[in-house]
Amino acid sequence: MCGIVGILAREAAAPQLVDGLKRLEYRGYDSAGVATLEDGRIVRRRAEGKLRNLEAKLKSEPLGGLTGIGHTRWATHGAPTESNAHPHATERVAVVHNGIIENFRELRAELEAEGASFTSQTDTEVVAHLASRALSAGATPREAVRETLAKLRGAFALAFIFAGEEDLLIGARRGSPLAIGHGEGEAYLGSDAVALAPFTDAVTYLDDGDWCALTRSSVEIYDDAGAKVKRETVRSSVASVMVDKGAYRHFMAKEIAEQPEVVGHSLVRYVDMTTGRIRLPDGADFDFSTLDRLAISACGTAYYAGLVARYWFEKFARLPVDIDIASEFRYREPPLAPGSLALMISQSGETADTLATLRHCKAQGVKIGAVVNVPTSTIAREADVIFPTVAGVEVGVASTKAFTCQLAVLAALAIKAGRDRKVLSDADEQKLVAALIELPRLMSEALHLEDAIEKLAPTFAKAQDVLYLGRGTSFPIALEGALKLKEISYIHAEGYAAGELKHGPIALVDETVPVVVLAPFDPLFEKTASNMQEVAARGGRIVLITDAEGAKHAGETFATLVVPKAFAFVSPLIYAIPIQLIAYHTAVFMGTDVDQPRNLAKSVTVE
Ligand code: F6R
Repeated sequence: MCGIVGILAREAAAPQLVDGLKRLEYRGYDSAGVATLEDGRIVRRRAEGKLRNLEAKLKSEPLGGLTGIGHTRWATHGAPTESNAHPHATERVAVVHNGIIENFRELRAELEAEGASFTSQTDTEVVAHLASRALSAGATPREAVRETLAKLRGAFALAFIFAGEEDLLIGARRGSPLAIGHGEGEAYLGSDAVALAPFTDAVTYLDDGDWCALTRSSVEIYDDAGAKVKRETVRSSVASVMVDKGAYRHFMAKEIAEQPEVVGHSLVRYVDMTTGRIRLPDGADFDFSTLDRLAISACGTAYYAGLVARYWFEKFARLPVDIDIASEFRYREPPLAPGSLALMISQSGETADTLATLRHCKAQGVKIGAVVNVPTSTIAREADVIFPTVAGVEVGVASTKAFTCQLAVLAALAIKAGRDRKVLSDADEQKLVAALIELPRLMSEALHLEDAIEKLAPTFAKAQDVLYLGRGTSFPIALEGALKLKEISYIHAEGYAAGELKHGPIALVDETVPVVVLAPFDPLFEKTASNMQEVAARGGRIVLITDAEGAKHAGETFATLVVPKAFAFVSPLIYAIPIQLIAYHTAVFMGTDVDQPRNLAKSVTVE
């Protein structure tokens, strides 16, 4: 899950490659590199760490040349060192790669036995050596790539340049996404339309198995059977402007603050404000009355959005829901009834595990729905019905606004399902929709807790373990709270169903362990409050998040954060805000890299 970009330019390629890479840094930021052709020779600059290190290197050691490729890496094979940074090259060919070459060990052994000498621990370097070997044996660059591709197993997107070939850029796609950008006397390759946005809005997405040869004046595309094919060129609506932090210190802070607005934008697509009824967006008008079951799959935060949605679909639509972590779905080999719906949830629309599940379900004749934020993504393009979220570009690696927009859309779908299945009356629907319409206002109010939460940051920062507890739809929010804290503060945290604590995890509790309890004053409150007392009796420091009524009934806590009272059904969207702010302020207090935490990447395009 790296970002790749390639360019046949009319002006110096290296600065443009860096410009494209800036937009791809969300895919990985362990190291970065570019290669260009200077007088026909392959030259490279690579640097460990963030893209700014590569930029600094290019300033002191500039690269000339109009033809080049660039890469930003999330390490899979080999540590994030300069020697493992892409592009990987021989004298003849340089390559950048996103994905995993599964059979690289046997290929490397074969190449080493023939005398090839490797300088990295990556799986990618075999690709450079294979292509180089073919070129040495007299193959043209196109033939060399074809021969190389035939030897590779795994999932990948690749971009190649060749020594002495100033007007040739070759790309290939199997599993990982790759798009061609069309310019005036220029041509580009990029992992996505966002990377291409500074150069062009005319984009052709390669189909799986395609490879392409670009010159400044021509585009050839071949499918996996080797037949020359045409793929549609579309106008990408991705703006070329870089999203900036505005007055905020981090993107995550800005994205947390944007939630009332973007949840509002997402809801407007699903709610008819005049009738107070759900109205699905054009092209997404799905009839849930035809379903016996719904299968939801997603990863990480998106999976937690799905867990909340299961409560909603089962309660409001009496629709049984199976939900899986996408990376596990296929191993369970669930029987899928043709005609049922598999619903993928993904911010990026590129998550490899979710995409693999989508394809698995599709192959079994199941209709695919996708709750997805990036409309040009692979998941959006391969789904039968797209349910868009309108979170806008999310830059912070820890997902915040995409999560609450996913919840908003899933809530609307659950109500629609309830209506289709005649479980909800018109009046029920209007009542639930009214609760949704209130959300932006209530979420804005919840943001006012920020100062109180900032004051708690030193307590969380001292802890080695933090527990999060919730019941009902607050349970997935507890899981999400723990994930957020782990991701950006590196403090160990676990989310539990409040009732489960006494079956084991309570052994962890002592006075050093903050326990965040999510407990709206609803019919489940009393039970959760009892669980809270069990924790308090063992010295645990309770940070209770509740509404005014809950605060009145809660008894003593270490701290109580009071969120606005809301219709119980929408509380997950409101309680999401304080748990995001706890993670954010703890991380800021600890001085971690909030927007680009260690070892993570925004888009996980490897399985
Ligand atoms: C956590 C986070 C990840 C993603 C997960 C799925 O803050 O961002 O857990 O939610 O990698 O990503 P998408 O939604 O792009 O499929």
